[in-house]
Amino acid sequence: MKHIRILTGLVSASAVLSIAHAHTPRDDLDNNVPSPPKAEAISLVRVPLPPVAPSDEKGSCSLDVNPRGTGCVAKHNNLHSGHFLPDNQHFVAIANFTGAPAAPDPASIYQGQHVLVFKADDSTFANGDNWKCITCGLPAENSKGRTLFVDYPQAFQDGKRLFVGDNIIECEEDLVSEACTPKNTYMRPIRWNTSVDGKGPGGAMRELRLHPDNVHLGWSAFTMANGEFGQFSYYGRLAWNPDPVEGEPLVPRYDVEKVYRLFSADPYQNERVIVHPDDPTQLLIQSEVPTVGELRGFGGTGKEVTYVGAAVESSNIDVFATDLTTGVTRRLTSHPEYCDPVDISPNDEWHVVMDTRGTDRQMFLSGLRGIPPLTDIITSSVTSATRNNGQRRFFQPWIIDKHGDRGTYFGQQVNAQGDGVPGGGDFNDPVWNGRADPRWSWDGTKIVYTQIMPYAPACGDPNPLPCYPSTEDGGRIERIIIAHLTGREPLPTYQVEEAADEVPWGELYVPGETQPQRMSPPPGQYVLQGKHSGYAHVTLGGEGDKINFVEVIYYSFSDDGENVLKGTESVTVESPELTLSHVDWYSNLTQTGPWNGTKLTSADGFQLRIDVMVNLFDANGTMTTTVDGKEYYQPANGQ
Ligand SMILES: *[C@@H]1O[C@H](CO)[C@@H](O)[C@H](O)[C@H]1NC(C)=O
Ligand SMILES: *[C@@H]1O[C@H](CO)[C@@H](O)[C@H](O)[C@H]1NC(C)=O
Ligand SMILES: *[C@@H]1O[C@H](CO)[C@@H](O)[C@H](O)[C@H]1NC(C)=O
Ligand SMILES: *[C@@H]1O[C@H](CO)[C@@H](O)[C@H](O)[C@H]1NC(C)=O
Ligand SMILES: *[C@@H]1O[C@H](CO)[C@@H](O)[C@H](O)[C@H]1NC(C)=O
Repeated sequence: MKHIRILTGLVSASAVLSIAHAHTPRDDLDNNVPSPPKAEAISLVRVPLPPVAPSDEKGSCSLDVNPRGTGCVAKHNNLHSGHFLPDNQHFVAIANFTGAPAAPDPASIYQGQHVLVFKADDSTFANGDNWKCITCGLPAENSKGRTLFVDYPQAFQDGKRLFVGDNIIECEEDLVSEACTPKNTYMRPIRWNTSVDGKGPGGAMRELRLHPDNVHLGWSAFTMANGEFGQFSYYGRLAWNPDPVEGEPLVPRYDVEKVYRLFSADPYQNERVIVHPDDPTQLLIQSEVPTVGELRGFGGTGKEVTYVGAAVESSNIDVFATDLTTGVTRRLTSHPEYCDPVDISPNDEWHVVMDTRGTDRQMFLSGLRGIPPLTDIITSSVTSATRNNGQRRFFQPWIIDKHGDRGTYFGQQVNAQGDGVPGGGDFNDPVWNGRADPRWSWDGTKIVYTQIMPYAPACGDPNPLPCYPSTEDGGRIERIIIAHLTGREPLPTYQVEEAADEVPWGELYVPGETQPQRMSPPPGQYVLQGKHSGYAHVTLGGEGDKINFVEVIYYSFSDDGENVLKGTESVTVESPELTLSHVDWYSNLTQTGPWNGTKLTSADGFQLRIDVMVNLFDANGTMTTTVDGKEYYQPANGQ
């Protein structure tokens, strides 16, 4: 285990031990990892939602439709649930109101995208609704400089503030009290200073997540370098600036200070595949370094940051958690299917994920376990883009204990209740798919999540998946479910320690600096040694430092002494446009052992064109993965 040396100074000795265990495919046999938990009791409840308006026409949301005059939503209104409030009795969500009458009708304020607080039980607010719109009717002078970008609703622990998109909402009173009204509620923009002179609107932040210490935040930002599309993630500190003197908008705002990029230019600390530091003819796979792609959030106690990371096993996209201080990294999921939304429980003991596991969507690519992530040097954007069919996601919510997938344990599906008939509308109807982010209550006894049905062209002719009619009230195609983990005791309320500003394994961000580059090994011929036996011959082709061809020939390659891999795989990738990729892929792999199977492309190979912003499958040829005799096929074109 030569590469542990590379991590010296970055991780503690105990971390090195747990890293060593992570290499064995049979963690369940390891004394340090407990046996998987037994399935637990889960009770599911639909949350009543604002009534559906008959149309988008002004005034269609009449008092007949909503007698309380508190607004209506469309069947499809971009509904998203988010955090619970600290009382665990409410949660925050986003919905797009429609059909409101014209001003000065008091109901005119229920129009457009807004932030709502819902009751998490069957009680109501004083007016009889089980929800309250926090931003409807907000005076313009209370929301100067706010952006219209509103997603991932999150809650501060003071019960008075919310975090949505790149805005912070603050009420002078408890959000859920009758005393909190639009008059004493404010919406403040967040600004990330990215210019040398401090001028301008600041950097475009996406996927913002509040740290549980309520002082720090994390986010991602796209990069474009060398004609390639990429992104880095960042971590910083919120600083209230009531009277800014530079930068837009010049309004009371939150500035982000002490920004760290969750990446360092040293490939030994950040890259999955590197050239061996002692032997330039060899490659090394670093299974345990932080490889922060898109940021997902933070652990319950705030020690870790979560993110979608570089594959550890070929074509298998997972979520990871890295300790902000030590850099110690754990893989939260390892099932071959695709995962991206994740929320770690407040005590760090569990995570809930949205995952395509169980749908077999990705198995044709990723079903064969333990293949080194070499083609992934160039295929990761393609292999993650195949997870969706346009707007249709194949996500379902799963809970997994902190030790992760192991042996035959792949977590417990949260919504495994109902007859599972497509279009039947039960909790486990596969046509209803999960949205980001599922969230734990702060006492760990509940999870709230949102689902949506596919709509054309992700269903309906020519797509072979029919568009099923909604079975929900008003024909809505979105719903919010609360899962009660009825066997769990509520966790005590606890104070999250304020996290450090510094991220020792990242680097301080300096406004105006040029973006660093992610580094893959340069073109050339390499050997990858099996950790147990055998080797692979690897050819990386391309121009300059840019790799566009990977060929791997496995010679009885084995990392664990149990699974032995033989055969070849080669891939060429072209990017005719920034977000569009075309791959030409040949696989002929055979593995023996507990993870036995094959990965085979048709004689003329498998060609796939996919735009990572659209995610429509368009292929020629076939790629088929067979695991223990079970065959997995690619989706049909357009699906
Ligand atoms: C909200 O719905 C209206 C139609 O009523 C639509 O024009 C608008 O784009 C939607 N906004 C968002 C953010 O979804
Ligand atoms: C932005 O950063 C520049 C360069 O460090 C600095 O001069 C400027 O004062 C900063 N402005 C703000 C508003 O943080
Ligand atoms: C796959 O490789 C095996 C072993 O080299 C070979 O016998 C077989 O013909 C190959 N199959 C294809 C489809 O190329
Ligand atoms: C193939 O894998 C399955 C599942 O791990 C195992 O039960 C079976 O014994 C394996 N077959 C061989 C020939 O190794
Ligand atoms: C599939 O083949 C057709 C006909 O040669 C070609 O036009 C198309 O671009 C190919 N698609 C891909 C994804 O390579």
